[in-house]
Amino acid sequence: MTKSNALADKQIILGVSAGIAAYKAPLLVRALTALGADVQVVLSANAHHFVTPTSLQAVSGHPVRQNLWDESAEAAMGHIELARWADIVIVAPVTANTLAHLAHGFAHDLLTTLCLATEAPIFLAPAMNQQMYQHPATSANLETVRSYGYQLIGPESGEQACGEFGPGRMTEPNDIAGALAFSVANIDQSTSQTKIRPDLRDDRLSGLTVTITAGPTVEAIDPVRYISNHSSGLQGICLAESALRAGASVNLIAGPRVAQTHPDINRIDVISAEDMFNAAMASIQETDLFIGVAAVADYRPAVSATEKMKRSGEPGAGVSLELVENKDIIAHVAEHPDRPLVVGFAAETNDTLAHARAKRIRKKLDAIVLNDVSDPTIGFNSTHNAATLIYDHGEVTLPKQSKQQLADNLITNLAEIFGKKLADTKRQSVTN
Ligand code: C5P
Repeated sequence: MTKSNALADKQIILGVSAGIAAYKAPLLVRALTALGADVQVVLSANAHHFVTPTSLQAVSGHPVRQNLWDESAEAAMGHIELARWADIVIVAPVTANTLAHLAHGFAHDLLTTLCLATEAPIFLAPAMNQQMYQHPATSANLETVRSYGYQLIGPESGEQACGEFGPGRMTEPNDIAGALAFSVANIDQSTSQTKIRPDLRDDRLSGLTVTITAGPTVEAIDPVRYISNHSSGLQGICLAESALRAGASVNLIAGPRVAQTHPDINRIDVISAEDMFNAAMASIQETDLFIGVAAVADYRPAVSATEKMKRSGEPGAGVSLELVENKDIIAHVAEHPDRPLVVGFAAETNDTLAHARAKRIRKKLDAIVLNDVSDPTIGFNSTHNAATLIYDHGEVTLPKQSKQQLADNLITNLAEIFGKKLADTKRQSVTN
C-alpha cells in the first residue's frame, strides 16, 4: 500500500448521487483507500436505490451518512462536522440533478448542504445519459460550477447503461483516483487553487519552450457522432507539469476531455487530428523540445456529414464509412527544416523493443518512449505506467510507477541526455 502520494492521509468525503454509475462507488472507495486516504461516504437523498450503504460502510470503515437530520451527528449538525472534516470532497457520480442543485446553491440533502458548507476543494465526476449531458441546461450548470472553482473529472464517452452511445459515462474509479491524486499534488491549500509550489521549480529546462501533444483526437462523422479513443491525456498532463517544474515554458496541445491543467501551462485546446497538426506546426518556431504523447486518431471519415445521418429503418441494413489517413503530426514536426528536438511515444504489444526502435528511426525522432500495452495494469486506463526511453546512444528502463513519477523521470533523463544539445540549439527569441 503506497503512502508516498498526494492522497496519503487525506480525509476525503465521497459524495454519491443517484445514478446507475453509483454501483462503482465501492470500487472508488477502494482505489482511494489504496492510495492511503481516509474516506467517508455521503449519499444523496436517493442514491441508496443504486448502491447499498452496507457495502460502502464495509469498504470505507465508516458509517455511511445520508441524513441531514441525524441527531447523533455532532450538535445535530452533520453537514458542518463533515464539511470541516474534509480535506477533499469528490462527488462521483454527480448526476444532472445533483449538478443542477450544486450549480444553484440548493441545500435539500446532506450532500448538497455540505458542499455549500465546506472550504475543501470540490471535484465532480459527472455521469448521465448523453442527451442529458449535452442539454444546454447541463452545459450551463457545468460552466457555473467551474466558475466556483469545482474541478471536473470526465465524463468519458462510450456505451451507456441506457444502451445509447456518447459522452456521459463516469470515468473509471482508478482513473478518478489518479486524476484526484494528480490535482491534489498541486493544490495550494491556502488558496485552493491548482498551483505548483515555487520551491518545487528548478532550472533544468529554464529558458526552453517545451510543446506537448496530449489526449485523444475526435474525428466527426456527422454533427453528433465521431471516431475517437480512450486516451485520458493524463501522461501528457503529467509531462507538462514536470516540464513546468523543470523551469520550461510549456505549451500543451490538448485533445477533447483532457482534464484541467496548471494555469502557467499555455494550453491550446483542439478537437481533430487536423486541428492538432495545425497547432503543432504553428508551435515549431518557438519550440525547443516537442513531445508527442497524444493518441492521434489514425483515420478520419473522408466526408463529415453536415446533417445528422439518418437510419435507413431496415434492420440489418449496412452502411459503410470511407476513412482517410490523418497526417502523422510528430513525423511532420521532425521533418521540418527548423525542427526542435523531437520525442515520441510508442504503445506496442509484441516485439516491443524492435518495433519502438524502428519507429524512432522511421519517424526521425531523437528519442521514443516505449509503453508495453500488453500489460493491462499500465498505460491507457491506468494511473500507472512503465516505459523504456530509447535514444540513439542508449536505452533507459523505467519500471512500473505512477504516471507523474514516470513523467518526472522522463524529464530528468531528457534533460540529462539532451541538455547540452538543447542549450546549443536554444531558440534565439528566448535569449533576445
Ligand atoms: O505510429 P504510432 O501512432 O504508433 O506513433 C506514436 C507516436 O506518434 C506518438 O508519439 C504519437 O503522439 C505520434 N503520432 C502523431 N500523429 C499521428 C499518429 C501518431 O503525432 N497521426
